[in-house]
This record gives sequence, C-alpha cells and structure tokens, in this order.
Amino acid sequence: MTDLFENPAGLDGFEFVEFCAPERGQLEPVFTTMGFTRVAKHRSKDVDLWRQGGINLIANYEPRSAAWFFAREHGPSACGMAFRVKDAVKAYDHLISQGAEPVANEPGPMELRIPAIRGIGGAILYLVDRYEGKTGDNDLSIYDIDFEYLPGVETHPVGAGFNIIDHLTHNVYNGRMAYWADYYESLFNFREIRFFDIKGEYTGLTSKALTAPDGKIKIPLNEEGEGGKGQIEEFLREFNGEGIQHIALICDDLVACWDRLKEFGVPFMTAPPATYYEMLDERLPGHGEDVNALQMRGILMDGTTEGGEPRLLLQIFAEAQVGPVFFEFIQRKGDDGFGEGNFKALFESMERDQINRGALKVDEKVEEVAEVAPVPVD
Ligand SMILES: [Fe+2]
Repeated sequence: MTDLFENPAGLDGFEFVEFCAPERGQLEPVFTTMGFTRVAKHRSKDVDLWRQGGINLIANYEPRSAAWFFAREHGPSACGMAFRVKDAVKAYDHLISQGAEPVANEPGPMELRIPAIRGIGGAILYLVDRYEGKTGDNDLSIYDIDFEYLPGVETHPVGAGFNIIDHLTHNVYNGRMAYWADYYESLFNFREIRFFDIKGEYTGLTSKALTAPDGKIKIPLNEEGEGGKGQIEEFLREFNGEGIQHIALICDDLVACWDRLKEFGVPFMTAPPATYYEMLDERLPGHGEDVNALQMRGILMDGTTEGGEPRLLLQIFAEAQVGPVFFEFIQRKGDDGFGEGNFKALFESMERDQINRGALKVDEKVEEVAEVAPVPVD
C-alpha cells in the first residue's frame, strides 16, 4: 500500500500489542480461546510471543520491567504496542525532534535495541524495522533474533482465521482528546478521518478516528459523552488511567471465524434483540447479506448502501477479558468505519423490542436501556 500522505516516521502497520498481568494464567486462556498459539519465548526475559496469522501478541512477565510495573498499576491490560517503521533509528530521531519522550529500553547481550517512546497513559510505543514481509519472503523479524521458537510449534498458526490488527482504540479523560490527537498528528502525521458524537438516551461518547499515513494504523480516540457515567468513564476508573480500550482483529469471513471462536469458547457480548435484525433492511436496504447467519451469531452490521452499492462492516465484540480491555472481530466489505452507526441502531432496536413486549409505552422513558447492553463502538 502506498502512503496516503506524508509519512515522516516511515510507518508500515502494527507489529505487536504487548500485554501484562500481575501473574500468569490471566492472559493465556484469553489468547487461546481467540485462536492464538504461544509460538516463542524471549531468549533472556520472561516474555512470550503469541500469534495467529500476521498478528503478534506479546505477554510480558519480566520482573521489574516496565510491563511489570504497569501491571501493578493497571492490572491485566495492554501495556505497549509496536509500529512497524522503515528505519527505526531514523523514525526515533524524528519523533524525539518532534518532542516525543524517549523510553530507555536496554537490550540484553546479542539482543536488538528496539527504540521506544512514551505512549498513551504511560504505555510504551516501540518502533520495529525488522518484520516479516518488509521486502519479501525472507525478512528476519525481531522474534527470529530475540526469541526462540518452541519445539515443534507451527510458527504461523491460522488460528481462528484473523489476519492482522485493524485498529486499536484509546480511551482518554474528558478534555484530553485534543492532547492525544496532537500526539499522533505532530509525531507521526496521523490525520483525523472521522469524528462522531454517539449519543444513547442516557450515555454517549465522542470519538475521533485517526489514521496513520500508511493507511494501516488506525487509532480511534474515545472520550466520555456529556453527563458522564457511560462506558468510557467506567473504563477509565477500572483501568486507573487512559489507555488501550479494545483491539480489533480483521478477517476475510467473519461468519466462519465466529464459528471457530465459538468453538474455542470466546465469550461474546450479549446479542442484540431480534428487532435489530428486523430493522437492518430499513437501515441498509439492499445490503445483500444473509441476515439469518448474522442473527444466529449476534454479528452486527454497519456501513452504507447508498447508490445501490453496499459498503459494509461486520463486527462483533467479546466481553472484556483482560481487565476492562476487550477484543473486537471484524470483516470489512468496503466500509472503512468503526461501526458508529450501530450505537443508535442497537439503542433503537432495544427500545422497539421493549415496545413490542409492552414493557415500554411510547411516551415513557426507560432508564436502564443503555445499561442492558453496553455498546462498545469506538
Ligand atoms: Fe473498534
């Protein structure tokens, strides 16, 4: 993919997301049920590499490391992420010249020095210039040098069928949206591609979706809506700070992948009421999807069919399993949004469901609606 606009740090997609937890046993079942396999361990540190398709997740248990301290403060969570860059030293120099905070990251003997800066909520943002597929089929990755693959392991497991990280979302404190947008814009030349206010009847959120110049790294920022007490505020309180709220994995066939996830045991969020699916044809006329197949699985649909050309996003969320952090599973069929249309659609479908059941008179307000089914769009 050619760059969408000037790319001063040479970005080229996500390389990994790093997780931490106070102890082993909390991350592993979550990764396993999503189809990840532990494929390698670090040569000198208590750090594991989990993988499916082109998605790398790091579990860092190294005592007294940044991840270890992060886990003490935030509990099980995502404590870092890595961007692929063409040249890590050049990218790092550029970022420091633009005001990024350096993070000391001492390698062990014979290990790579991976430059890093301070990121969201104190998390570390690494810059990786050795990665698979950079120039061809035989690129050495950081794992080939710093990690040892486990004996007999399939190094590129298909897992549940997910290919790459599509986006990951940050939750920020009220009034902090501009700060974090400026962070990504001034350091990496991200651009804002979408801004939306999502309002339920009683809670809401504001979201600003940033896209990197490579077109591959997408980071929506979420702020609590007016009045507070919604899902963003709850996350910030539970997480004890700003940070990565959810990570979206993308696949080519969400229905098939869902079946595998279900078999593996992923706990999905509560499916919307039948009225959500009854309303799909009004919302997205001529979408051409098998509504029954979606409804059986609780898969949500968003996008547009304007001009008779469906551009759709299929999405479903798992329950929060890493502290308050959760995963999203998506398939893009021409839509490059984040499912923002689903918040209103879900709200309306729940309301219509209540009306159908006689639980809600049309002139009556129902306070618990927004809480019955939290709607974790970006
Ligand atoms: Fe998302």
